[in-house]
Amino acid sequence: MHIESGVGLRTYNTFGLPAVAHTLVRIADDADVRGVVNHPTLGAAPKFVLGGGSNIILTRDMPQVVLKVEVRGLRLVEERADAWIVEAGAGESWHEVVVWTLAQGYPGLENLALIPGTVGASPVQNIGAYGVELRDRFESLDAVDLRTGETITLGPERCAFGYRDSVFKQALAGQVVITRVRFRLPRPWQPALGYLELERKLAEWRSAQPQTEPSAQQVADWVIAIRRAKLPDPARIGNAGSFFKNPVVTPEQCRDIIGRDPEIVHYPMPDGSVKLAAGWMIDACGWKGKTVGQAGVYEKQALVLVNRGEAIGSEVMTLARAIQESVYGRFGIRLETEPVIV
Ligand code: EPU
Repeated sequence: MHIESGVGLRTYNTFGLPAVAHTLVRIADDADVRGVVNHPTLGAAPKFVLGGGSNIILTRDMPQVVLKVEVRGLRLVEERADAWIVEAGAGESWHEVVVWTLAQGYPGLENLALIPGTVGASPVQNIGAYGVELRDRFESLDAVDLRTGETITLGPERCAFGYRDSVFKQALAGQVVITRVRFRLPRPWQPALGYLELERKLAEWRSAQPQTEPSAQQVADWVIAIRRAKLPDPARIGNAGSFFKNPVVTPEQCRDIIGRDPEIVHYPMPDGSVKLAAGWMIDACGWKGKTVGQAGVYEKQALVLVNRGEAIGSEVMTLARAIQESVYGRFGIRLETEPVIV
């Protein structure tokens, strides 16, 4: 096991924020995690699990032992009558896994194309886009318990998936290192095209070629085009995707807000509650394209905060708090941050 000291993390987080990890250990397999757990000094120290760094805001140097997950591997583990089961190492790039499954003829992840980050982070925040969430394609995962060093396997019920939420953000936060995730890709493939922008793409397709149905690769290409049109590429402009969750309110609260702001974008949820578009509210408060220090609000999507060059975490958080205050002042809604603030 190789223990690194004083490691700069700027290139290890997609927002490009500066911070230093006092101690960093690269994890290539479960045995590496056990090596840390059984280590005479690192064993008892607090740990922080780092994947692709696409959903964290670093506001300070890290005294914890940073476990940088680099577990590789990608394979079909089972072909059932009703599903393909694919397993990926937690350190694999999420988008490369989506691309690989499509090339192999195992469709199902196409709506989740181009999401930044690693496979290991995907269950933690139950990634979702264009009408599909990770939980809809999840079979099970392996994780190493940071107290005992044992490898455990968890099915969907133990993961307690919610909207951008799971047991790994709650009861098991900081307790386990996810090392492999298995996906259940249902057969026969059914495209999920209910999201408004995909419906539009489908309508254009149908009018051009009424006899044929789009393939999973075609759906992936649409998702990639939609994302590229309104989300910044972290390789060019530092960001962590949506900075706030879309708030969920009661129908009464929603009626109240609609009374004052009839234009507000909102979606009824199956349980009767209503999800409000946080991006719309931030936009309505006039934040789109604004800059505070080196942190800014993206010009094409107000829900995304960006690094204008040399931002530091505290500037990003100052901007985030100003946005939260103005949305609260106008709509009476407290926006919750979506990335993990470190
Ligand atoms: N809107 C505005 N102004 C804005 C931004 C949005 O008016 O500046 C309006 C849009 O026109 C649209 C509505 O708000 O009517 C919703 O916007 P959009 O479709 O872009 O989706 P979102 O709710 O902002 C969520 C996810 C994204 C995911 C998309 C597509 C969250 C926090 N974000 O964004 O996920 O890609 O839906 O499914 O749920 C992420 O989690 O990092 C992420 C990018």
